[in-house]
Order: sequence, then C-alpha cells, then structure tokens
Amino acid sequence: MRAPDFLSFIQLFLLTFFIGIRPPLVNGPMPARPLVALLDGRDCTVEMPILKDVATVAFCDAQSTQEIHEKVLNEAVGALMYHTITLSRQDLEKFKALRVIVRIGSGYDNVDIKSAAELGIAVCNIPSSSVEETADSTLCHILNLYRRVTWLHQAMREGNRASSVEQIREVAGGAVRIRGETLGIIGLGRVGQAVALRAKSFGFNVIFYDPYLPDGVERSLGLQRVGTLQDLLMHSDCITLHCSLNEHNHHLINDFTIKQMRQGCFLVNTARGGLVDEKALAQALKEGRIRGTALDVHESEPFSFAQGPLKDAPNVICTPHTAWYSEQASIESREDAAKEIRRAITGHIPDALRNCVNKEYLLLAAQWSTIDPASVHPELNGAAAYRFPPGVVGVATPGLPEPPVVEGIVAHGIPSVSLSAPRTPSPGETSKLDADREIPADQ
Ligand SMILES: NC(=O)c1ccc[n+]([C@@H]2O[C@H](COP(=O)([O-])OP(=O)(O)OC[C@H]3O[C@@H](n4cnc5c(N)ncnc54)[C@H](O)[C@@H]3O)[C@@H](O)[C@H]2O)c1
Repeated sequence: MRAPDFLSFIQLFLLTFFIGIRPPLVNGPMPARPLVALLDGRDCTVEMPILKDVATVAFCDAQSTQEIHEKVLNEAVGALMYHTITLSRQDLEKFKALRVIVRIGSGYDNVDIKSAAELGIAVCNIPSSSVEETADSTLCHILNLYRRVTWLHQAMREGNRASSVEQIREVAGGAVRIRGETLGIIGLGRVGQAVALRAKSFGFNVIFYDPYLPDGVERSLGLQRVGTLQDLLMHSDCITLHCSLNEHNHHLINDFTIKQMRQGCFLVNTARGGLVDEKALAQALKEGRIRGTALDVHESEPFSFAQGPLKDAPNVICTPHTAWYSEQASIESREDAAKEIRRAITGHIPDALRNCVNKEYLLLAAQWSTIDPASVHPELNGAAAYRFPPGVVGVATPGLPEPPVVEGIVAHGIPSVSLSAPRTPSPGETSKLDADREIPADQ
C-alpha cells in the first residue's frame, strides 16, 4: 500500500469506526432504476408521472423510521417527506443507499441536515412552497384576534344573543381597531415579508426583527427594523413568528421574553411550535399578560386541546398545522419535490439540485470523497454497490423496461396497498412552471 493510500485508509477507518461517519455516497452510478420512497404519506399520484421513467416510486406512510420497510432502508436512493416524520442522525444511519432527501415544504427542522451531509445525503426543501397560503392564514389569525370572528361564531353557536348594544358589547368585548396598531414580525423571510405587505394594507404599523438579514431590506419593503428582540417585544401590540426553528431559537418565546412584551399583546405563531414555551404562554394567558393567541403550530403535534398546557388556557385559537395548505400549493410543492428528486437522479449532486439546504456541509464532507470507500472497505454501508470513485455522475440507464406502478411498502406486514384518498400533510410550497420540468413532453 502506497503512503497516501495508507493515510486515506487510516482517515476513513477513524471516521467510520470512531466518529461514526459513513463515507459519502453522494455521486457514483445509480442503480438502473433507483428506488424513491415517500416516507410519511401514501399518495404518489403527482410524483409518479414526473419520476416514473427514471425511478421506482414507493410509499411508506410511516411516522418513524421503525415503521419503514427494510427494502426502503436498504435500497432507497431518494426520499420524499412531509413534516410528520423526523430524521435524526440515528434515523439517517438506517438508510444504506440514500443520497437525497426532499422535504415537500419549506421547513426542514425535522431533518438533521448536518449529519445527513456527513453521511453523504443531500437535503433539499421547496422554499417557495405555500408562502402566500401561510401569509394569508397568518393574517386570518391576526384578524381573528382583533375582530374576534372565531369567538363570536362560537358564541352564536352556543345560543348567545346579541341584539341590544349591551349584548353586543358583552359578546364582542375585546374587539380592537387595527389601524395604528403595531405588528411585530420575528423573522422576515419569505413568509414574514408576505405578512408584512398584507398587514400594511390593513393599517398596521409594521416593525420586524431579523438579525440575519443584511441592511437595506427595511428600505425596500418600507418597514421599520429593530435591532434587538427586546425592542420588538416592547413595541409590538401583536407579535407574529416567522423565523425558522434552529438550534439557537428553541423557546424564543418563554417566560422571560413574555415579560418583555406589552401588557395585553397578542401572539401568533404559524412558524414552528418549538419556538414557543407553551407552559409559559398558558400562564401568561391566564394572567392576562397576553390577551389572546393564535397558533397553527405546536410543541407537540398532532395538537389536541385535551392535552398539554394550553388545555385550560383562555383566548386560544388553534389550527392543526394547516397554514400552508391549499390544493394548488400542495400539488405545486409535490411537483417541485419530484422534479428535485429527478434532478438528483439524472444529474450531479449537489450541483444539479436547485434547493439543497446542506450544500455547505456536503462540500465540507466532500473532502472525504477523494477516498474511494469501496477500495478501502467494500462492505461498508452499501459502498459495495457503488464501487466507483465518487464524483462520477449518476445517470439512470435509458431504455428501461416498462415503468412500475406505485408500490406501497407498508410496515407491520400490511400488504401492498393501492392508492387511496390523498392524505397530504406539511408546510410551505409553490411550483415552477412546467417549462422546467425535465421530463418528456408526453408526460
Ligand atoms: N404552518 C405552516 O404550515 C408553515 C408553512 C410554511 C412555512 N412555515 C414555517 O414558517 C417559517 C418561515 O418560513 P419561510 O419560508 O419564510 O422561511 P425563511 O427561511 O424564508 O425565513 C426565515 C427567516 O427567519 C430568520 N430567523 C432565523 N432565526 C431567527 C431568529 N432567532 N430571530 C429572528 N429571525 C430569525 C431568518 O433570517 C430568515 O429571514 C419556518 O419556520 C417554516 O417552517 C410554516
């Protein structure tokens, strides 16, 4: 063994056995008809036409990797997923051939993207997905808090009467004029900006806090920027969360930050449940420090009013993580996700990908791709199946046999199931035009 080879062997040995890092499998030839699996859903009718000539598409309908069939764990090269399954490092390690994961939605906090990169798996999202739907839903929640529509409806349902002015005062008490109120936006990304534009037309004075944005955004959008979270909390009558959930902002809204808010302000969250300490929020609602809250996302999902700290808190409006949903948005995001998988199968990862969110980590890990894993330790993690130097473009074999139909690979010994009614979950989406669909015109 030559000296550099020996060094590579030592590096790979150390990485694999002591640090637990699987050698990257990012590129290299694909199996003739790679397996692509929808992890947490059943309906692949939108994805199939886009992928059928390059891949076999399966669905798992799983809530965790324990429910995923061995075949998928061993052979799936691509995975599509909504937000209802989580992929930790431990989960990712179970997949032996995986090269790309596409989140059908914009948030990817349910995937350990750094570990994925270390394992040679590219992770993509669909950032355009549901921007408008989520912003519109957010405005619905904000308007509901100010105009009390949900609670008025509830009162009518319960048989309350509101004919005299006194009765109207009673039933609609707490309704507030919007014009002149200050809306504080935390996180001015795609959804945050769409909310800001909408809120301005209702007469809100809009301020925002987003430390990651460059100077000047406030000028192009005509908004007021504040430099600290505390500034935003102190100056807002209604606070709406639109930041991504990451390792720095879990429980951004907690007992301490709630105490910095204006007495009786509103709180809206359509971003991620982990941003809010629900126990602290429930307490603040009970004490009237927060006047009302509208939440589409929760610390524990699926949300139930029967459980958790909010069960006996007043002035709460909840929706079940549906801010993103419209039929159009759902279809567009699924199309976009399937196209991203297609790009991964037919092109070079990560260059061919449009929305790879762990590209930086992948490139960092790519230094290891100078080592040919198969030449060092062929049986490692499926490396034997990809016994080519990394960096080779993976192209599906042309002229393949008739494409298979969707196979349902369902855990717990349930036999293959044909497609049933769509059960589409998850946040955020929008699609590109058909023009950029890289599939033959007849599909
Ligand atoms: N409820 C739903 O159905 C639904 C739908 C779509 C998106 N979402 C969620 O909404 C959020 C926003 O989505 P997006 O597409 O606008 O994301 P985005 O990435 O475009 O914007 C997120 C913004 O948050 C900022 N940010 C990050 N950490 C912050 C912090 N600690 N304080 C202030 N700002 C911070 C970032 O700089 C960025 O500008 C995400 O959490 C996403 O998962 C939910």
